[in-house]
Amino acid sequence: MNDYSHEKFLDLNVFRGVGEDPVYHPPVVTGRPREWPLDQWADAPRDLGFSDFARYQWRGLRMLKDPETQASYHDLLWELRPRTIVELGVYGGGSLVWFRDLAKIMGIDCQVIGIDKDLSRCQIPASERSNISLYEADCAELETFEPLRDAAHPLIFIDDAHANTFNIMKWAVDHLLEQGDYFIIEDMIPYWHRYSPKLLAEYLAAFRDVLTMDMVYANASSQLDRGVFRRSVVKE
Ligand SMILES: C[S@@+](CC[C@H](N)C(=O)[O-])C[C@H]1O[C@@H](n2cnc3c(N)ncnc32)[C@H](O)[C@@H]1O
Repeated sequence: MNDYSHEKFLDLNVFRGVGEDPVYHPPVVTGRPREWPLDQWADAPRDLGFSDFARYQWRGLRMLKDPETQASYHDLLWELRPRTIVELGVYGGGSLVWFRDLAKIMGIDCQVIGIDKDLSRCQIPASERSNISLYEADCAELETFEPLRDAAHPLIFIDDAHANTFNIMKWAVDHLLEQGDYFIIEDMIPYWHRYSPKLLAEYLAAFRDVLTMDMVYANASSQLDRGVFRRSVVKE
């Protein structure tokens, strides 16, 4: 029986299809035993048998970055040695802890800043917040970014919230990014290219004098697909 009359439907865009549960749960193998008998080795299924994106985690915190993307960021951190990483979109917070830990392992003195309009889903324990700053704010409002003006460089600015992206990019170019700093748009470029190809090309071309696409990282992972931009000239 249909019973949709009592339902209040949530906007699934809020979750982007991955956000129903910010808590990490270890994978559960379904449709087959985890302990596969070796006398049936040749008959074992070759597919994963559990949801793959939901299993990406760092020390028990979900992070919405797949292994290829993690590898690309590893290489970028090692090359750039950023003093600041800003990530728009915190969600469970695993990526912030991962960035902080990775920088620390590399001996980089790096402050990680996470901004999200809803920090209630952030799972980072209080004991794990050194070198991580969290701000609850809406990316739709450019005032949100004013406190970043004092950030140390080199700097990586990651848009993983996907709200107001090109106005934020303009703000970052005008007020924040120094030569060699990065502005990265995760996940969205292929979708925007599919549904708004003219506007996307027009918006990106508007930045031609101040940003370039870094071809070392732009094709290195599907989540970073053509979305890795580097400040090409000195801020005036
Ligand atoms: C894809 S998740 C971030 C995942 C995280 N960066 C990671 O790699 O694990 C997107 C987040 O953006 C946040 N968000 C969406 N719209 C926003 C807005 N207008 N301002 C601030 N945060 C927003 C959502 O609350 C959500 O937590």
